[in-house]
Amino acid sequence: MNDLVHLAIIMDGNGRWATRQNKERSYGHKEGTKNVREITKYASKMGIKYLSLYAFSTENWNRPKAEVAILMKLLSKFLKTEMVMLSENNIKFDVIGDMSKFSTSLQNEIANAKEMTKHCTGMTQVIAINYGGQDEIIRAINKATQKHEKITKEILEEFLDTAGMPPVDVLIRTGGDYRLSNFLLWQSAYAELFFTKTLWPEFSSGELEAIVSEYMSTERRFGGVVGN
Ligand code: IPE
Ligand code: IPE
Ligand code: MG
Repeated sequence: MNDLVHLAIIMDGNGRWATRQNKERSYGHKEGTKNVREITKYASKMGIKYLSLYAFSTENWNRPKAEVAILMKLLSKFLKTEMVMLSENNIKFDVIGDMSKFSTSLQNEIANAKEMTKHCTGMTQVIAINYGGQDEIIRAINKATQKHEKITKEILEEFLDTAGMPPVDVLIRTGGDYRLSNFLLWQSAYAELFFTKTLWPEFSSGELEAIVSEYMSTERRFGGVVGN
């Protein structure tokens, strides 16, 4: 049996899910946000300690302005409405990514949200916004070299957005594509990867459970040999 401490999910397929039913892409994003709630509660019940969810990448600014605006609005709404549920379930809220690109008001909302759940001791829900693995590593190197002459793995990790978090054990991508799209590149060095065709709004706790049970019987060798 493997430990599952850190689960990461690339929540892809909201737009296609909506388009398939002749609805606007924004409808898919709204339903996708609802599913964040369901999967978060379930992951917390499963005893997972860190759930990292890819919500907005450094590349997603390339989308049409109107779609970016809707995503920012949904994020702001999420920060205002979800903290009660998180707090009730003893779930701490955190973010990764470069927050400096967001408006001051959104940055304040993020800080308030973190404050509201800072006493929680159960799972941590980590939302990745304006997050890119390459951007994170570059920012970390620039900070680390101000303090250290020689950078080691341990030093670099202290400067990543994920400082203090364990590496990713399982990484799931919904939506049918087989790529990482710049998510947690450093932290997923030894993650077990799972790809499903299910579009994010339809990704269920049952499917998560099936993936987790497959993960449990996987042999993780970390470069070693069987049974050692
Ligand atoms: C994922 O769904 C959510 C974000 C990237 C914000 P998409 O919006 O990428 O949905 P598809 O991939 O176009 O279906
Ligand atoms: C990855 O999805 C980013 C998020 C889920 C936030 P994208 O839809 O942006 O990825 P690509 O463009 O298909 O690689
Ligand atoms: Mg997509």
